[in-house]
Amino acid sequence: MNYNLNYQFNFNYTLSIAIPKGYLLDSCIELLKESGFDTDCFYHDSRKLFLFSNTDKIRYVICRPMDVPVYVEHGACDIGFCGKDVIEELESNIIELLDLKSGKCRVVVATLENNVEKVKEKYKHLGSIKVATKYPLIAKKHFDEKGMQVDIIKLYGSIEIACVLGIADEIVDITATGNTLKDNNLVEMENVMNSTTRLIANIVSYRTKFKIIKQFIKKLKVSK
Ligand code: PRP
Repeated sequence: MNYNLNYQFNFNYTLSIAIPKGYLLDSCIELLKESGFDTDCFYHDSRKLFLFSNTDKIRYVICRPMDVPVYVEHGACDIGFCGKDVIEELESNIIELLDLKSGKCRVVVATLENNVEKVKEKYKHLGSIKVATKYPLIAKKHFDEKGMQVDIIKLYGSIEIACVLGIADEIVDITATGNTLKDNNLVEMENVMNSTTRLIANIVSYRTKFKIIKQFIKKLKVSK
């Protein structure tokens, strides 16, 4: 086996990569595997947040999707896989290197099926609308552009619940298959943005590890 799970800090690596947990994780591992990287460490039955490939001299840091740009911006990771939605929301000081074309989803405005007309009325009369979201910046920009004032309620997950329980008129959230919206009787009202997974880099690492990062990118098999 070419992985080492016993050490959180193994200095025998040349590249540190932030990998998002959750819905993007599988597509990231698949891309690495298809591109010929050693992905054995991901399949080990472990909750370790640091994984190492001694073959590739890579340290993988497994973190929350919203934290990927933070670790990359602060230099804890040289590069990372990150949704465009998260990049837009955090406005981190990072370099966006590549569109990996995977992890397709959309940020949408949605509301309860039986609430559509009521919300449209509020839109017409510029009434105050409560919007629950884990994307407060994207949501605010979207409604600012429409000239609408909204009360943003910041949540950290399962956003759909906010509409069902009536604390918000609408949600701004990502949808991929559309199943979560459908299963909770919500319908899409507006498309805010499309998102795919991006490869991002720390500004300093991109200069100091330019060759290593370029080699990594060259090996990545990104579909056209
Ligand atoms: C995301 C998003 C939706 C769901 C959409 O949640 O917030 O709830 O996925 O996916 P679908 O259209 O394929 O059903 P996630 O799984 O990231 O969990 P979270 O709600 O805890 O953030």
